[in-house]
Amino acid sequence: MVSVAILGAAGGIGQPLSLLMKLNTSVTKLNLYDIVNVPGVAADISHVATNAQVKSYLGPKELDEAVSGIDLAIIPAGVPRKPGMTRDDLFKINAGIVKTLVEAIASNSPRAMIAIISNPVNSTVPIAAEVLKAKGVFNPKRLFGVTTLDVVRASRFVRDIRSDIDATTLRVPVVGGHSGNTIVPLLSMASTPLEFDIKTIEELTQRIQFGGDEVVKAKDGAGSATLSMAYAGARFADSLIRAMSGETVVEPTFIALAADVEGANQIRELGAGELDFFAVPVELGKEGVRRIVPLPAESITEFERKAIAVASDALAVNISTGVSFAKSA
Ligand code: NAD
Ligand code: LMR
Repeated sequence: MVSVAILGAAGGIGQPLSLLMKLNTSVTKLNLYDIVNVPGVAADISHVATNAQVKSYLGPKELDEAVSGIDLAIIPAGVPRKPGMTRDDLFKINAGIVKTLVEAIASNSPRAMIAIISNPVNSTVPIAAEVLKAKGVFNPKRLFGVTTLDVVRASRFVRDIRSDIDATTLRVPVVGGHSGNTIVPLLSMASTPLEFDIKTIEELTQRIQFGGDEVVKAKDGAGSATLSMAYAGARFADSLIRAMSGETVVEPTFIALAADVEGANQIRELGAGELDFFAVPVELGKEGVRRIVPLPAESITEFERKAIAVASDALAVNISTGVSFAKSA
């Protein structure tokens, strides 16, 4: 029985995500917050015949109430890309939005799990961590950057070239971050052995890394992935909720490689080096991150090792941009 707040609930992701969370039978309270249009979205979704109580919260004056007494906050607030933009181009606007929202969560529900969708995830998650540290409530096991869409794309894109594979059950660990070459699918460690040749691996990796661009291009100025993201966000939230109620669930997600996170050292040795954040397959439990699932070094291919090195260089810049912003703002 979980209380959930969605911040940015009236947006392209927010609306379908709110609907999917209303359908989640473990959710008893669903607080929908936005700076526009949220009363209509909440009224609409509140008629769906599940037991969750839906409430609308509009604008900064209602933010504190929206995030009071919650177990999980999901944040898809912020601007999306248009063709020609990178996710980093969103930093200027979204950094401040995420900072304000996380400050409110830290003050009103300091133990809530926080799942950040707003881009650039590689920087917004470090911003959130700094905000929580400044408020004295940072717990690295309860803060997540949502990278599930990369995992979802990996399963689906494999199915595009291998019709014998079931996209609903195939799991490909995706590590690193959430933008372009920071996204590193470990196809060698897929739940079903794939045995692709190197050309196929290169093409598939490139497609997974730049899957977001396919949608941005097709939407032609009307935004980025919303429906597949709502699906991915709801899947991640459901995994977290099931873990909170005692199940053991594994999902890749962008987390802090803190000293007390079991498995962090192994990921450093694999190529994360001194980075403070990295997307890794995480075993989730009642208190959030239980441990990082070991990725056997001997199974990683040379191609993947090089991709992790490239990702780590880019991530170092993204992480420090987020940390500097939070410290100076
Ligand atoms: P959108 O513009 O359709 O919706 C964003 C919503 O955020 C709007 O309703 C807007 O009013 C609201 N908002 C703006 N400022 C706010 C504030 N201060 N407080 C609360 N709400 C605020 O955009 P979208 O398509 O839903 O995308 C949202 C974000 O998610 C973007 O940054 C996008 O890049 C990101 N995204 C991430 C992933 C991922 O895999 N992590 C995937 C897709 C999109
Ligand atoms: C995605 O991967 O689809 C999102 O990060 C949105 C984007 O800007 O591509």
